[in-house]
This record gives sequence, C-alpha cells and structure tokens, in this order.
Amino acid sequence: MVKRQVPAPGHVELWVHSPVLAGATPGQFAHVVTQGTLRRPISFSRLDVDTGNAAMLFQVVGVGTRWLANQEMGAVLDILGPLGRGFPVPDARRPWCLVGGGVGIPPLFAAASQWTSAARMTPTAILGARTESLVLLEEEFRQLGHVVWITTDDGSRGMKGTVIGPLARWLAKNPQGQVYACGPTAMLRAVGAISGQRDDVWMALEQRMGCGVGACLACVVLGNGPEGPDYRRVCTEGPVFSGEELIFP
Ligand SMILES: Cc1cc2nc3c(=O)[nH]c(=O)nc-3n(C[C@H](O)[C@H](O)[C@H](O)COP(=O)(O)OP(=O)(O)OC[C@H]3O[C@@H](n4cnc5c(N)ncnc54)[C@H](O)[C@@H]3O)c2cc1C
Ligand code: FES
Repeated sequence: MVKRQVPAPGHVELWVHSPVLAGATPGQFAHVVTQGTLRRPISFSRLDVDTGNAAMLFQVVGVGTRWLANQEMGAVLDILGPLGRGFPVPDARRPWCLVGGGVGIPPLFAAASQWTSAARMTPTAILGARTESLVLLEEEFRQLGHVVWITTDDGSRGMKGTVIGPLARWLAKNPQGQVYACGPTAMLRAVGAISGQRDDVWMALEQRMGCGVGACLACVVLGNGPEGPDYRRVCTEGPVFSGEELIFP
C-alpha cells in the first residue's frame, strides 16, 4: 500500500502499487484478503498505468473493510485481480452520463478519468449520497470537466431525493444517451425501469461473493436469456451488465 486518504467519514481510499491492477478496465474489481476466510470485492476508483498504481475507495461497514482501512503504509496486500467484466467504452459521438450512488461512485470516476478526453459532448455525472458529507469525488468530477449534479436523501446538498429524478430529466433531453450506473440495487432497479432496460445502459452490480472467479455460484442474479430467465455470475459475467441482460425482481 503506497497511499491512504479519508475522503468522507467512514470511507477510506487506498492506493496500491501493482502494474497489473493499474491496467484494469474500470468496473472490474479486486478480490482482497482481509480478516476471515472470504476475500472482499472492491472496485477500482483510480487506475494509473504510468505510475502502476491503482486505488480502491470503500466504506468501512464490517470486519473486512475495517481491517483493510487499518493497514499501515507499506503493507503488502493479497489481492486477486483484476476480476470480472468492466464497463465498455462509450461511443464518443453520443452523449453519456454517469449515475452513482454512495460507494457506487468510485468505479465511475475511474471510468470518467479514462473516457472524458475523447468525449465530443460534455459528459454529465449525477452523484447521490445520503447526506452532504458523504458525497464522494465531486471536485474530481468537476476537474475532469463534467457537468455535475448532486442529490442527497436529506437535501443537505444539491437536490433533495435520489439520482433518479435528474437521470429522468437527462434522458428526456438525451433519449439516445448512454448511461453508466453503479450503486445500491434499488437504485439500479430504478435506473433500469426509467431507461427501458436498453443495451447501452450499463450497470455495475454489488452482490455478496464467495470465490470471485465463477466457481461457487454465490453471486448469481437473474438474467434475461434467449430462452427465458437464466442465471448470471456477477463475478465473471459481470459485475457490469447492460439493462437488457438482466431481470430485476
Ligand atoms: C463487484 C463489487 C465491487 C464492490 N466495490 C466496492 C467499492 O468500490 N467500495 C465499497 O465500499 N464497497 C464495494 N463493494 C462492497 C464490499 O465488497 C463490501 O462492503 C465488503 O465486502 C464488506 O466486507 P466487510 O467484511 O467489511 O463487511 P461484512 O462484515 O462482511 O458485512 C457488513 C455489511 O456489509 C454488507 N456486505 C458485505 N458484503 C457485501 C457485498 N459484496 N455487497 C454489498 N454488501 C455487502 C453485509 O450485508 C453487511 O450488512 C463491492 C462489492 C462488489 C460485489
Ligand atoms: S463468487 Fe463464486 S461464482 Fe461468483
């Protein structure tokens, strides 16, 4: 571990030096040994192939993330990755919008960092949080040149409510716009519902995981198969899926 920051209360961003991880596609994840038997999946928030550094921004919610948050500088971490399928690069000629809720925002920032310079139209980032102090990476998105809309559940910053209201307005103005979303399942379900579950609406799912490499089936979700509903492994077929690939309960 080469750098550590606290971007918001209860949240930590760790940088590790690993040219292999730094070459990940945004939306892929690291499977990290912490305390206990199971590894913990965490997305990449920053990927820098020049320095060979990759960062992970996570909320401290339990035993594994607490252990990780307390690692000292110079600690050697046991990380499997990059794993899973990341976000496809948007068509630069068409508008695109990033929609993130809570710790769903960091992988979208990794994507924005790689894609923004090629965009022909100013991209929009819609960032949602429970309250003002938990809005992640807002300044970083502004520095990339994004139009940034903020929502908070309690109205302490930006618009009161969820990211779905601003996304509906963005889609009304950009009916053919490409959408990239990451956040809680309820948020993704709503994104799928208002966007019509299209093949250019991409969502990164968070699911409890076991092996992380497709063997245990702990992470399956319901897919929209050619012959009816089927199961998709979030760790290998995902975590990024298009809206048309999924069936939300
Ligand atoms: C592909 C993927 C990418 C992820 N990326 C990030 C990220 O960038 N930043 C981040 O903060 N978190 C991310 N998560 C969630 C993260 O993996 C969990 O918060 C973490 O595993 C919790 O471990 P713990 O030991 O601290 O918590 P535990 O003690 O195991 O559990 C504490 C709480 O967290 C919940 N939880 C545990 N695992 C998950 C999980 N996989 N998904 C959702 N809730 C969980 C539990 O239900 C419980 O409420 C990601 C999850 C997946 C599947
Ligand atoms: S976590 Fe084991 S198959 Fe996905």
